[in-house]
Amino acid sequence: MKVLIFDTAERAAECVAQQVIAQVQGKADSVLGLATGGTMLPIYELLVSANKNKQVSFSQASSFNLDEYVGLNPDHPCSYHKFMRDIFFSKTDFDVARAHLPHGNTGDPEAESEDYENLVLGAGGIDLQLLGIGENGHIGFNEPTSSFRSLTRIKTLTKSTIDANRRFFEAPAEPPKYAITMGIETILRGKMIAVLATGKNKSGAVATMVEGAMGAYCPATALQLHRHTTVVLDQAAASELKMRDYYFQVHPDGKDALV
Ligand code: PGA
Repeated sequence: MKVLIFDTAERAAECVAQQVIAQVQGKADSVLGLATGGTMLPIYELLVSANKNKQVSFSQASSFNLDEYVGLNPDHPCSYHKFMRDIFFSKTDFDVARAHLPHGNTGDPEAESEDYENLVLGAGGIDLQLLGIGENGHIGFNEPTSSFRSLTRIKTLTKSTIDANRRFFEAPAEPPKYAITMGIETILRGKMIAVLATGKNKSGAVATMVEGAMGAYCPATALQLHRHTTVVLDQAAASELKMRDYYFQVHPDGKDALV
């Protein structure tokens, strides 16, 4: 794992946005693995600006999002379809016909999961996968005890995830209990992975992901098996890493940030 530590969350997000831009500049028809969640917002803002000022075009790119809530239709205000449309696709030249998310409102979520897995495979695999990390160590919605060999499937969300995501729902509406998520094996198939974590609330999960014993209790530890993962952090998220000084020595101030 390459661990890059920046002084601020803004600079950490810039680093990941630059990785996406460099990827698409180098290969216009890149397949991007996209993520939702609060941590990702500054990345999309930066990508929208880069697209507006013609630094990068997404017109040939395609994308696969990690997950979607079961039961929400694509127009539901809290669906990830709508999140992605509002903050990224509708503000760039991304061809939405090539933007994929699992459909949460299907009558047969199991068949939908299998179809989605095949769709990712059929696209030739993901060139660059963006990831956040949950406070409980989840990646996508692969909650603790998810198999490292898991493929796209339905997961029951933990109380910790539901509590963390309640802020996106207007009370009395509650986050759904289930989601369709890419599996850990699906994620590990990505050619490159960039994880962004910012804030003190992520420091425990980050420390386990990078330095902890690999195990299903912290799904993000599976990334230790991946050859080209970059973990991008601000100081707060990096604060529990035992080898923080070493990572900073190897990549001072995030230098050598581009893979
Ligand atoms: P967050 O979610 O960016 O909203 O903290 C990250 C995640 O749960 O993967």
